[in-house]
Amino acid sequence: MAAAQTSLTIPRPDDWHLHLRDGAMLQTVAPVSAAHFARAIIMPNLVPPVVTGAQAAAYRERILAAVGKAQFEPLMTLYLTETTNADDVAAAAESGLVKAVKLYPAGATTNSDAGVRDIEKVVPVLERMAQIGLPLCVHGEVTNGEIDIFDREAVFIETVLEPLRKRVPGLRIVMEHITTAQAADYVRSGGDNLAATITTHHLIINRNHMLVGGIRPHYYCLPVAKREEHRLALRKAATGGEARFFLGTDSAPHPTDLKENACGCAGCFTALNTMSLLAHVFEEEGALDKLEGFASRNGPAFYGLPVNDGTMRLVKRDKPVNFPATIADVTVFDPGFETFWDVETTI
Ligand code: DOR
Ligand code: ZN
Repeated sequence: MAAAQTSLTIPRPDDWHLHLRDGAMLQTVAPVSAAHFARAIIMPNLVPPVVTGAQAAAYRERILAAVGKAQFEPLMTLYLTETTNADDVAAAAESGLVKAVKLYPAGATTNSDAGVRDIEKVVPVLERMAQIGLPLCVHGEVTNGEIDIFDREAVFIETVLEPLRKRVPGLRIVMEHITTAQAADYVRSGGDNLAATITTHHLIINRNHMLVGGIRPHYYCLPVAKREEHRLALRKAATGGEARFFLGTDSAPHPTDLKENACGCAGCFTALNTMSLLAHVFEEEGALDKLEGFASRNGPAFYGLPVNDGTMRLVKRDKPVNFPATIADVTVFDPGFETFWDVETTI
């Protein structure tokens, strides 16, 4: 038997779905992502949301100031509202500033109140995006109170996404943070204009981890973790070498007291240990050689960007790696198992 692999060098990875927030939280979390990732798609769900090109440009400057000397390129997005202006979107894309637009169904998640209630109202913007090849990142959950929270992604595919793709066939779409076997299969059947991000935490936890033996608020995120069969389907999608699945951590920091709360916020803060945890997961699946595609190659291919020049070297230590439990007032995602993979260098 060949000796177990104990190191891995990949092109520097990117995070295709990241929440950096603003103000003090931005100062805390931006350097954490910039230490490992060369680029990240920056989610626009600030308060107030990033809806115009001018707001995205100003936010980008605040992010660059927060990362200091680290080499990190924030790939900006605009928050789609029912009054978003197609010319503003096109200008922001053509200048190179904005790399995607984010669709939040109103009420679906953190700071989504300004999101879309009636898709018909945003069709002109989506048509323009299709013309210029600007991707739409989709939070794929229906918000109808009658639909069970565990079914919201699957129902979204049938009742919103499929009709939307028929209505605007040329639109490039990323289904963000998929959590179900249905979503993985839908992406596989969707042709070259459809892709999906998968988070680290959805490869690790199912809903039992969140709810059995006590409620664990740091595992609460949206879309909520599903049954084990879905976690396994996501693992297959992420580690199977299929080009239309790539890493989007959805690392979403909240102060610990707002997570450990009678009405706790949704989000897992995984930016710090994501690459170690992914190496652990990919090794478990016998697919360490596929991590490079998932974290470093498939995303740029879909977004039409080059693979990063730098590299990341991961090594498997003899002893478990100790990650800090908290960064400032944010609790770091605890996978519930020991991790031996460590990021040795990022250059
Ligand atoms: O868990 C989540 N947290 N899911 C989202 O869609 C939003 C995010 C946040 O911004 O906190
Ligand atoms: Zn998110």
